[in-house]
Order: sequence, then C-alpha cells, then structure tokens
Amino acid sequence: MKLKVTFRPENVEIAALPGLTILELARRANLAISAVCGGRGTCGKCLVRINPAPPAGPLELKRIPAARLAEGYRMACQARVTDRDLEVEVPDESRLFNLKVLVSGLSREVAVHSTLRKYYLELAPPVIEDQRSDWERLRDAAAGRAGLRPAELEVGIYLLRRLPVLLRENNFKVTAVLANRRLISVEGGDTTEHCYGVAFDLGTTSIVGALLDMRTARELAVAHRTNPQTSYGADVISRINLTLQDPDGGQRMRTAASDALGEIIAELADRAAISAHHVYEVVVAGNSAMEHLFLGLPAGSLATSPYIGVCRGPVTLSARRAGLRVNEDGFVRTAPLISGFVGGDTVAGILAVNLHREERLRLLVDIGTNGEIVAGNREGLFCASAAAGPAFEGANIHNGMRAEPGAIDKVRITDRVEYSTIAEAPVRGICGTGLLETVSELLRVGLLGPEGRFRNDSELAGLELPAAVKERLVDTPGGRAFRLDPETGVAVYQKDVRQLQLAKAAIAAGIEILLEKMSLETSDLEEVLLAGAFGSYIDPAAALRIGLLPPVRPETIRFVGNTSLAGARLMLLSTELKDEAECIPSLCGYVELFHEKDFMDLFVEKLAFPTPGLP
Ligand code: FES
Repeated sequence: MKLKVTFRPENVEIAALPGLTILELARRANLAISAVCGGRGTCGKCLVRINPAPPAGPLELKRIPAARLAEGYRMACQARVTDRDLEVEVPDESRLFNLKVLVSGLSREVAVHSTLRKYYLELAPPVIEDQRSDWERLRDAAAGRAGLRPAELEVGIYLLRRLPVLLRENNFKVTAVLANRRLISVEGGDTTEHCYGVAFDLGTTSIVGALLDMRTARELAVAHRTNPQTSYGADVISRINLTLQDPDGGQRMRTAASDALGEIIAELADRAAISAHHVYEVVVAGNSAMEHLFLGLPAGSLATSPYIGVCRGPVTLSARRAGLRVNEDGFVRTAPLISGFVGGDTVAGILAVNLHREERLRLLVDIGTNGEIVAGNREGLFCASAAAGPAFEGANIHNGMRAEPGAIDKVRITDRVEYSTIAEAPVRGICGTGLLETVSELLRVGLLGPEGRFRNDSELAGLELPAAVKERLVDTPGGRAFRLDPETGVAVYQKDVRQLQLAKAAIAAGIEILLEKMSLETSDLEEVLLAGAFGSYIDPAAALRIGLLPPVRPETIRFVGNTSLAGARLMLLSTELKDEAECIPSLCGYVELFHEKDFMDLFVEKLAFPTPGLP
C-alpha cells in the first residue's frame, strides 16, 4: 500500500510505504531535519507535528511533554507511517540552518606553482605525407610547449576515445591541459585564460569550499553548506555506525558528501561566472572519518581501539570516480592523515600556520567536538585529539543549538545582562560560544564558584550585584539556572556548566600532556593559535578565565581562522607545499591521551575553573 506524506510549509509530497520513519522520508525529500543522535531517539531535536498523529512510542512518551503530544508533536525518528496519508509540519526549531562558518581563513604569501598547465595549440591537420596518429600529433606539440620529450607525456583511454572528434570539430585548434606529465583534457579553441581549482574544508558539521584561479592564486568565491551527513547524526561515530549497520550506509554517506561538494562547486562557478568544466583539481581536507566516508573507505575500525584507518593517504582519484561535476578528466586529492583521530584538516592547519617550519614554539588548537592540539616547532611536533564532546557545538545543552541564526553567541554582565544573537535573529537558543561566554561572565561576577556550582540564595544575598542580575539566577524544575532571556526562557543550567567543564577539561588536560611530553612549560609557548569556527569567535579573556587554555599572556593568543581550508588552498596552489604536507605526518608524534597515565588525574584537576585573579 502506497501512502502520501506532505511536508509543510514547503508542501513537498512524497510517496511512502507503511513502516518508514518520518526522518527517513524527510531525508528522501531533501528536507534537513536536525538529528543530533542520528535517529536513536535520545536527543529530542527532531520534533515534528503530524496530522493525524500516530500513537506515541515509549521514547516519545518519555521525552515529549504531554501538552505537545496532545498537539500532535512526535519525534521524526520514531514516528512511522501507518495506514493513512500524513501531513508533517517541520518547525524551525527542528530544522538545520546554514551555520555561521569561518570563510576568510588565513592568508600566507605563496608562490603559485601548480601542476596544471594549459597550452593553446594550432596543429597541422593530417595529410597523406604525415602519417602520425591524432595522439602523436597532439603529443608532439604539447610536449614541445611543456619542455618535455614526447615519450614523457601520458594520456588515458577516456580522452583517447574522444580525441578524434575533439580535434576535427575544432579544426585542430585546441587547448591541451596538462597535470604534471599527463594530458588530462583537450578543449576546443583557446581556453588558457580559464584554469581553476577548488579547496575544501570537509568538516563534520559544515563544508566550506573556495574557488581559486590557478594562474594567479586569486580567490574568486567562497561558499558553504551544512554537511548533509549531519541528518544521520551530529557525531562521526553515529555516521560510522550507520555504515556498519546498513549495507547501503557507506554509499549513502559517500553520496551525501559528494553531493554537497558538488552543490558548492556549482554555486562557486555560478558566483564567479565561470564553467565548472574549467575546474581541474580539487583538494579536500577533513578529519580522518570524513575523508574515509568521502572516499568510500570502510571507516569501522576508526571507531574502535586502536582506531586505525584504512589508509593515511594522501589519495588521488579522478573527479569522475569521486562523483564531482568538474572537468571529467580532472582529479581530486585528499590531505594526508596523521592518525585515526588527527586527520587531514590538522595536517592542513599545520601547513597553513607553518608550525613545522618555524623556530618559535607554538601551540595550535582547533576546538570542536574533538579538540585537535598540536605543539612544537621545526625541531618536532606532538599532536593529540581531546574528546571534548559536543558542548562546544551546543549539543547536550538544555537550550543548546549550533551556531545558527538566533543562537546567543555573545554575553556580557554589567548592571544588566546583555547578549547578541547570530544574524541578530530572534533568540532560539544558545551556541557553544554563548555558553562559554556566559560561564566566563558568571565566574567573573561571582555568580558561579570555581568548582562550577551556582551560588545558593544565602551566598547570593552576600554578593554586591544589581538586583536585575541577581534575580536571573533561579531554581527551576530542571535545576538551578541563569536566565539569559526571560521572554523565551533561554537559560544556562547547572548541568550545562558541567558539560562545559567536561569539554574544557579534556582540552586543557590534553594541552598539558603534550607540553609535558615535550618537557615544556606554559611560559615556553611563544604563541597560542586558535583555529576553527569556534576558536575564532571566542573572547580570549573568556577562554583563559574558564581555563580552556593554559595561563599564557592574552597577547600571545592569535586567531587563525579556518586553517583546514587555508592549508587545502596551499596544497592546491603549490606543488612544493603539497609535498610538504605529505611529509607532515612523519614529523608529528601522535599521543593517545587515554593511554597516558596522568591524563585522568589531570582531567579531573582541570574540571575546576581557575581561581580569580586572571584577566
Ligand atoms: S531523537 Fe530523533 S534524531 Fe534524536
């Protein structure tokens, strides 16, 4: 029996078989519903309103308030099509919006030295006296222009099959596109002006792409998308599990990633008014799981100890095999990986900030669900990945949300409570930056103690604070909480403070272990570089106050933006830097934090906030 499900307000209709979940149907209809837990029924972020509402299951009865159940609200991952047509309203709170992402990155002077070269050739048409084949005719001319011996130039079978038509349709006036010693494309007429590449930061949460002119290194456009794999789970483990449990799971993850990259390429081409056919090279830098899923490599072993991947790369494959709509003979390269938890995005980051080449001792921290930490200089590097959990992404937080429009992201407590929201949209919740800033402010004004406990009423009475601030600290059925926005009820709860403590303690302990490994003191650090979208929006004083970073001088902290994208750009533009990136994994000692005997003790020690006296 085929039934119909209509999603509102888009009025998208989709045929459905009984038994399918609403979340599965939404994915098929290309509607992005938030599914932080990957559909396990534990996050409660996928609420939709269904008419007529199917009977609520046990997880829904547990998580959804009775009044909302009566209004027809159900969890999209639990509610299934039964025996009738349904209308499903997807409220804003359950949708995935475009994230606030960092797209500017970091710029570094680089000499363009790409492997790509284009030569316009006017070939002599074949005559009876010249019996060279089409390939020899083209090869001789192209090799001559490239300074190669003809025998050094290679060509693939796909191009050979099309060659006769390409030459004759264009009166033997063509442009040859070479990548190193391989002819990768032949185009009619003179197209030497058009030679492009795209660099990608393939993040767990968002994907950013930059279109570059390969002749001038000029950035022509930047575009981004939420990683569509997010609708299968916010964390990489949920996505890896899907590939293990569902025979089609790996293919779905791969298609989701390549479709998103394809959409970004189309948008970039459109915005720069170029043809995607003239994009010949793509570099993708992502964490180990994201690169495995994009390449269609089995990722299961990344999720269990000893966390070993299939291959540390770098991998080069044809654009055709990668499923990207650029020049069909173009190619795609992934950044090399260091370990199962320190991936190509970190390699790209090290390359972007030149950590492996400079004399100064520096620390690079990319803060996200996993905090990647690298310390060192040209003498050697050590790296680790600290499992910070999803608090910095706004997950597992009572009113938490990702850094989307409407998320409170900046907070200041003076004689009143001031805040701003992303895109100045009406308040919907609080993102990781907002949580960090709130906690920092609460510590500064004394509403929160160093152990992370909200002051009780008698302690509160002794604090010299305006009543307008004190009265925001209240007892609620969900525990003691500080109300940021009384109108919507968005607040930071005691358990949210705990989540932040766990996240910052993991990163702070990881940093200390790395410094110990290198026999370094905090005072030896000449610079602390904060990377990633989260790292670029936080206030350094707040990061120091909560103890996320070691107590360095604030002026040594520098925001370096999206270093994964910046490094991917460098690998795209310069053969030398691409080769350098390939050497970085061998320069970098990996430290598995959970195997370090001091890690747990340090982690517990770092749960507390530093005592006042810091900036
Ligand atoms: S509860 Fe449905 S996706 Fe998490």
